[in-house]
Amino acid sequence: MLAAMPEPEGEMERPSLVSDLDWDADRARAFADRTVDLWEELLRRLPELPVAGRWNAGQVRAAMAREVPDEPLPDDELFDYLRAMTFEYSMYPGHPRFMAYISGTGTVPGAPADLLAAGLNMNVGGWRLAPSATEIELALMRWFCREFGLDPQSAGGYLVSGGAMAVFVALKVARDVKANWDVRGSGIRSGPALRFYASQEVHVVSQRAADMLGMGREGVRTIPVDGDYRMRMDALAEAIEQDRGSGIRPIGVIATAGTVATGAIDPLPEIADLCAARDLWFHVDAAYGGPAVLAEDLRPMFAGIERADSISFDPHKWLYTPHSGGCVLLRDWSNLVLSFAALASYVHEDKETSGHGIDLGMMGPQFSRGFQALKVWVSLLAHGRTAFARRISHDAELARYLAARVEAHPDFELMAPVTLSICCFRYAPSDLPDDPGREEYLNVLNERLMTEIQLDGRAFCSNAVLHEAFVLRACIVNFRTEADDVEATLEVAAELGGRLDKELRPETLRG
Ligand SMILES: Cc1ncc(COP(=O)(O)O)c(C=O)c1O
Repeated sequence: MLAAMPEPEGEMERPSLVSDLDWDADRARAFADRTVDLWEELLRRLPELPVAGRWNAGQVRAAMAREVPDEPLPDDELFDYLRAMTFEYSMYPGHPRFMAYISGTGTVPGAPADLLAAGLNMNVGGWRLAPSATEIELALMRWFCREFGLDPQSAGGYLVSGGAMAVFVALKVARDVKANWDVRGSGIRSGPALRFYASQEVHVVSQRAADMLGMGREGVRTIPVDGDYRMRMDALAEAIEQDRGSGIRPIGVIATAGTVATGAIDPLPEIADLCAARDLWFHVDAAYGGPAVLAEDLRPMFAGIERADSISFDPHKWLYTPHSGGCVLLRDWSNLVLSFAALASYVHEDKETSGHGIDLGMMGPQFSRGFQALKVWVSLLAHGRTAFARRISHDAELARYLAARVEAHPDFELMAPVTLSICCFRYAPSDLPDDPGREEYLNVLNERLMTEIQLDGRAFCSNAVLHEAFVLRACIVNFRTEADDVEATLEVAAELGGRLDKELRPETLRG
């Protein structure tokens, strides 16, 4: 029983209840049920739906943007709106014929796990605000460390929004550790220009990270690649020497394990040796390729990744979990604190008395953090490791199968070796003469073809630009894709390609 408190003097009335937002459990259940009904219908109808529609921005804006009402929308009206959003104005990365960019399918158990995470609404910036969530994220990170061959005693990881943020965190730690002055205190201006090295095939987010770190985009020097799109070691060593000679301080190499264009893997053991010999930070951007370490047949290609100082990879790509969630792993986890710790006097805690654990908000760029780990963790628990390993391996098998079908077809050309699950090819009609204008025309044709495939809705692939050739690119990180879908994608490309060729081919290239 609490002791009676004295009443305040004067005008202050006792506030009455304001409960509009406080739906009870029955109301919550009814609302969630209708949402889950939509999701269930989506799962049932997915294979028959177009991968994407032929809308333009104005049409979608007109249908989706609306005034926020002062009073509640009736549920029927609200769910009609959500139904239209789901079935008329969305596109589906989980569709069996979606093979574009590097966007994962979205695990099925990951979606309800996200609902539970939001329902709990813990703040994973502080342990006391998120005890279970913090320990789950830490357990997940220890598991990832082991899978990548890092020692979970000294290594550790951190969940961020995706590959771009994971690279940013890794490069920030690299900068702070390798610059021999207090960059965090006095800034980048207090020492010589710092530089990272990466292959020409590096994802643009590395240059953007260098820009965000005050190093400018030139803070990443790009190195030529060999015929298989892998960083050339001779050119790397030469660039480092050249920069040293002109007063620039090399601080690290960004290797890519699974480049965005072709899936190439840089020579990791050689880069690890070079970094060790020259005291450089060794980062591996494995945003796409990383989860392939789970697959027995693909894992050997990643030898050397266990020597990295940091690894970034995206569960929301080839681990298929729902957007978003990227991950950065550090060989020496304490470096995250070195790079991100900040004192906030209002966040006081006597951990000796409370016995509480680590506050993850002190170990990365975000202060408040959501429970992103749950959808990944629940997916792993619900499916088990073997299911992921098997499916990742199967995706790569399907990409090789697509490459074989491309090579067997007279009107297609395979444009790069298949390393992981990306197949780059182009439509090149067999009757096209070997003329100086051929390459230029094939670029025009394939550029239009990619757009038409994306608008057509029966399949969905994206593009790459390889040595100035515009090519079609299928990236299979999709546990619903099977051989039928691969064949159908090629059939759609052949049909639309033939039609466009009739329309676009210049007189000079007609036989
Ligand atoms: C190698 C690589 N790094 C980084 C990224 C960026 O990742 P995200 O889109 O999750 O930020 C990508 C995206 O495809 C990528 O392929």
